[in-house]
Amino acid sequence: MSLSQVRKSQKGSVLSRRQIEGLIAEGRKIIVVDGKVLKVDAWLRFHPGGDKAIMHMVGRDATDEVNALHSAGARQRMDLYQIGRIEGRWINFLPPIQGGKYRPLMENAEDEGSESDTEQESSSLENYGGLETPPVFVIRHPPRSLPSTWTISTQNRSYLV
Ligand code: HEM
Repeated sequence: MSLSQVRKSQKGSVLSRRQIEGLIAEGRKIIVVDGKVLKVDAWLRFHPGGDKAIMHMVGRDATDEVNALHSAGARQRMDLYQIGRIEGRWINFLPPIQGGKYRPLMENAEDEGSESDTEQESSSLENYGGLETPPVFVIRHPPRSLPSTWTISTQNRSYLV
């Protein structure tokens, strides 16, 4: 699928990881919820939870956050923003607001979509010590009085800092 086709993609079309990366590189605010690819640019400024909540989920699977924080009505509304779907499991990118870097797609590059998901040296896969989802807080330099390895628990997850 070429870049212009990716921009016009339909709800049912499968978008590759590379294509989604390209859209985010263009500044689109893309999140994944329940395998659906949502482009939420137009919704950001109306979001009752604020734009930052969503900006921190760009490039990530927000299914857990969406299910935990939203009414059935709000979840239904999300379908309005669907531009496609993914196949298989989603590996989170690091959101741009957290410093993630994304590679643009080239105009007229028909084969971009088939690019392997393993070609990610320059893109921004999250890396939180092997964890897929980032903790709410990462303390990189604990005060001297704390042990050098300090475990923080947030909800059901623990993080070594
Ligand atoms: C298209 C995507 C989204 C839509 C349409 C949407 C819509 C809404 C709506 C209507 C509410 C008000 C409560 C309700 O009716 O359930 C809400 C609240 C909230 N949303 Fe979203 N949301 C979206 C994505 C997200 C994402 C990705 C997050 C990530 C964390 C998020 C975080 C929150 C939070 C924290 C609140 C709570 C606000 C509060 O109770 O103070 N939302 N959202």
